[in-house]
Formats: sequence, C-alpha cells, structure tokens
Amino acid sequence: MREAFTTKNSFLRVFNLKQAIWWSVPTFVLLVTLSFAAEADLSNKRVPAEKLKEIQALKNPFEASPENISKGKVLYQTQATCFTCHGKEGRGDGLAAPGLDPSPRNFTSAGFHSMRTDGELFWVIKKGIPGTAMMPMVGSVITEEEAWLVLLYERSLGRR
Ligand code: HEC
Repeated sequence: MREAFTTKNSFLRVFNLKQAIWWSVPTFVLLVTLSFAAEADLSNKRVPAEKLKEIQALKNPFEASPENISKGKVLYQTQATCFTCHGKEGRGDGLAAPGLDPSPRNFTSAGFHSMRTDGELFWVIKKGIPGTAMMPMVGSVITEEEAWLVLLYERSLGRR
C-alpha cells in the first residue's frame, strides 16, 4: 500500500516537472512578445495639421554626401543618443526599446521613408512627439544643423 502511494507520488512529481518545462516555452515567448509594443500607425501625421504644408516644404541645407552622412551617423550613435531607442543600425531595437509603447520607429523600413518628407522628420527631431518617448532633441543634445546631419544618416538607412 505504502509502495503504491510512493510510486504514484513520484510519477506525479515527474509529470508536473515535465509539464512545467513544456509550458515555460510558450509562456516565455508570450512574455517577450508582450514586452515589444508595436510601432504606431504611419498614416497619422506627427506634426501639427495647421503647419503641415510649411513643415513639409522645409529642405535639408546639407547635401547627402558620404562625408555628411557619416557625420550624421557619428552623432546618431553618440552624442545625439538616438541609438538608445532606435538602435545602432536604426532597426528600432535600441536598449530602451522593449519598454516603449509605441515602439521607436524602424528607419530601415522603406515604407516609413516614402510617407514622410525631410521637413516632417526634422520637425519631429526638433520638437518631439507628444505622448511618446520621442523627446525634443534640438536644444537638449544637438543643434538644428546637427539634426539635419542626423537626418541624412537616417535617410541613408532606408535606401539599403
Ligand atoms: C527615449 C527614446 C528615443 C530617443 C532617444 C529618440 N527617439 Fe525617435 N522615436 C522614439 C519613439 C518611441 C518614436 C515613435 C513615436 C510614434 O510613432 O509616434 C520615435 C519616432 C521617431 C521618428 C519618426 C517620426 C514619424 O514621423 O513617425 C523620427 C524621425 C525619430 N524618432 C528620430 C529620432 C532621432 C534623429 C533621434 C536622436 C536625435 C531620436 N529619434 C531619439 C523614441 C526615441
């Protein structure tokens, strides 16, 4: 009697352990998925509607030469701090990204670039996007000129 009880008990223990291991896999996958929020809808403009035309018409004063793009890249990956959220290569996978909702934009997506003018992106870098982790960067970490250079690097990521 006692023997039967012990066998059953140890059987249960093994079974539960196996089950726990099996369930830990989908649970882990679910948690990782939940911790990465989605990028916000691209069709919503990120600039004030009443200034849209004016903002869209802004032009980058720097040409997209290899020298200017690499100046922008250095800023992006250091002093300008963009990499902490948008990732070193701009894939939206920076160290701070998992906790952010909406997620930082992925600059390697061609669709993103085709839906924004330079002026709109410059505005966002300068003024930030209210209600998101995207802060005003001009005046805090970079100047307007540096923002235009960073934008050249950002644009170059969409052409790869
Ligand atoms: C603290 C995190 C954080 C940092 C640092 C940061 N961003 Fe962002 N950025 C975000 C988030 C989050 C979004 C998405 C907001 C949204 O979709 O509304 C975003 C969106 C953007 C967009 C896309 C806006 C659009 O039109 O959809 C641009 C461009 C951008 N960031 C550029 C930069 C640049 C350049 C830097 C560095 C100078 C930078 N960001 C630094 C979090 C960050």
